[in-house]
Amino acid sequence: MKKNQHFPKLFERGYIAGLEIKNRIVRQPMGTELGNPDGSPSWATVKAYAEAADGGAGIVYMDNAGVTQFHHVGLSIASDPYIGPMSILAKTLKHHGAVPGLQIVHPGRDAAFVAGDDLISSSRVMWEPWYENGGGVPRELTIEEIHEFVEAFGDAAERGQRAGFEIIDVHSACGVLLSNFLSPLNNTRTDMYGGSLHNRMRFLMEVIRNIKQKTSVPLSIRLSGCDFEPGGITIEETIEVAKACERMGADVINITWGSHAEVVNAAGLLSPHGANHVDMAKRIKDAVSIPVMLCGGIYTPEIGEQLLEDGVCDYVGIGKPALADPFWAKKAEEGRSGDIRPCIGCGVGCHDRGMLSGGMVQCAVNPTLYQFDREYFPKTDRPKKVAIIGAGPAGSAAALTAAECGHDVTLFEGREVGGVLKEASVPVYKEDLGLLGKYYQRQIAKSNVKLVEENATPETIATGDFDAVIVATGGKVRELNLPGLDSDNVIYAMDLMKQGCQLDADKVVVVGGGIVGAEAALILAEDFGKDVTITTRQDNFFVPGVMGIAYMTRLAMAGVKTKTRANLVEVKDGKPVFSTMNGLETMDVDAVVVSPGFLPTSQMRDDIEQIADVDTYVIGDAKAPRLVMDAVHEGYKTAINL
Ligand SMILES: Cc1cc2nc3c(=O)[nH]c(=O)nc-3n(C[C@H](O)[C@H](O)[C@H](O)COP(=O)(O)OP(=O)(O)OC[C@H]3O[C@@H](n4cnc5c(N)ncnc54)[C@H](O)[C@@H]3O)c2cc1C
Ligand SMILES: Cc1cc2nc3c(=O)[nH]c(=O)nc-3n(C[C@H](O)[C@H](O)[C@H](O)COP(=O)(O)O)c2cc1C
Ligand code: SF4
Repeated sequence: MKKNQHFPKLFERGYIAGLEIKNRIVRQPMGTELGNPDGSPSWATVKAYAEAADGGAGIVYMDNAGVTQFHHVGLSIASDPYIGPMSILAKTLKHHGAVPGLQIVHPGRDAAFVAGDDLISSSRVMWEPWYENGGGVPRELTIEEIHEFVEAFGDAAERGQRAGFEIIDVHSACGVLLSNFLSPLNNTRTDMYGGSLHNRMRFLMEVIRNIKQKTSVPLSIRLSGCDFEPGGITIEETIEVAKACERMGADVINITWGSHAEVVNAAGLLSPHGANHVDMAKRIKDAVSIPVMLCGGIYTPEIGEQLLEDGVCDYVGIGKPALADPFWAKKAEEGRSGDIRPCIGCGVGCHDRGMLSGGMVQCAVNPTLYQFDREYFPKTDRPKKVAIIGAGPAGSAAALTAAECGHDVTLFEGREVGGVLKEASVPVYKEDLGLLGKYYQRQIAKSNVKLVEENATPETIATGDFDAVIVATGGKVRELNLPGLDSDNVIYAMDLMKQGCQLDADKVVVVGGGIVGAEAALILAEDFGKDVTITTRQDNFFVPGVMGIAYMTRLAMAGVKTKTRANLVEVKDGKPVFSTMNGLETMDVDAVVVSPGFLPTSQMRDDIEQIADVDTYVIGDAKAPRLVMDAVHEGYKTAINL
């Protein structure tokens, strides 16, 4: 086999129980939510599978498939009539060069995500924060039902093999039914399926035995190395489970992390750049002799190559990175890792506005993901001379797309391509946002976009003879007009970030509960050991979605105190005064960091329209300060519709 000169380990051939795999990259199971309501694939599902396989990974798993007919969010393999439609997917993956993999599952406790299900688990235990937010309590499976499920897993695997899938993965991680049994927190049974680890893994062992009796394709078992639920699954127990899986006949262990209840680790949100929990993964690898797949935070081929080099795993799994750039593996193979669009670990497109919204999975940085209604970059038959003002994510996405579609693009940037991603990536756990900025710098330099490194004015546009102008000038910090804000100990959060968060104070209050406030508070508490309180005038902290949960988790872990319904009215003698439900309250702190949010800069459009006869569009934070996803997607959509 010809050795790949860029990533020799990643592109080494592999074998799992005799099954040949062209390289060591596994596109991990991640629902598309493109299937039909009955769990059969749609034509969009088929196209998504074709694209995923074209991306170059050796094995491609996609949607999980239910072993019984439940109100699921993925596909189904619950009865024989599904074999036909599912065989289209297996064939598609194969035709496009990948080993077709199928993950089978019952979501157990996690069906709480999906309304209308018979919620089942090992025991009547629900993750407390979900319960407090209205999540139901599952009922405990009877022993007879467990036996039925064992058969159902075996039958589903057998159908998967008949449909043409060449490797079957059993989902036993992240909070689904089989992991509910493994977890000492969720499994409080006193029968043969609860108590000792031996009993808690009995269900999984019976599933493996049943599948091995009914199939001959390799069997992979997906486990959470550790689920990070207090009192839940530990690495020590997972090592024992992995060894037992091997003894029972499993052919590969497929490691991921966390549970759906615990987003910081399951989704790797707000985690430092790099593979997650490598030391724990190595302990699993050392404990078994069958191959180990590892997933979680392997955002670049360089990270994957190093893991293989260090013997941490035999196959590297990519989840979110494959959404951000479906051609991750192909680009790595061609030595173009700099062209891989990086996942920023935000959870906005894939989780919040994807799976958890009930809609299709999306990606913040990849606006073309699963957009099969048209060509991704339709060539224009009316090329226009286009000015784009601002090269943050919105302007960069617009410029690259417009140029790809055949327009003549001039991009004005007064500071640095990447925009406010520079500030957004200051915390160590946000480095990946900065990598997106670097990606845009490289792509713009390689493209035929004309980059003009200066601030554009309405006059620049009026004299430039442009057909269209896209205003992508970002947001501007909202300025507060309150007494005492000119005190020496008051600073705006964005200014604090720009000066590396150096602050001569022990006790600090951060006023404002958005991303910037949360980040300033975290940096001050985590990196500088300050005594920090964060306040908001709202009822809750305003960081939306799973990222908000991740921030709240980290803030709590860092000991940051939170105070809601507190409206800053002045700073008096260096102390903040808040209007609260109990009247005016002051706080004894040494410094006040204000983070009042951002305002749009769409005024630029009006100024341009006053003096220039040109089509104008406003996108991204310039239109309304929001998130990277809004910026990138608006940039793309505006450009393809010019
Ligand atoms: C600290 C911080 C943390 C954040 N964290 C996250 C996060 O974790 N996840 C997330 O999704 N979002 C996050 N955001 C929000 C996200 O960064 C923005 O939504 C996004 O960058 C908006 O992109 P944009 O292109 O519209 O604007 P910007 O990124 O603000 O880019 C605007 C660009 O326009 C340039 N410009 C302005 N005027 C002119 C002119 N006249 N001529 C030429 N150039 C000009 C500026 O120099 C700038 O480069 C964060 C924001 C901040 C401030
Ligand atoms: C949108 C989405 C859907 C997912 N669906 C599944 C799934 O159905 N089965 C599964 O085992 N893991 C699922 N995962 C977890 C991923 O396979 C992977 O383990 C996790 O994202 C961590 O890897 P990464 O850092 O490479 O993304 C999903 C992840 C995402 C983002
Ligand atoms: S939405 Fe965010 S976290 Fe999800 S794949 Fe895209 S960039 Fe990564």
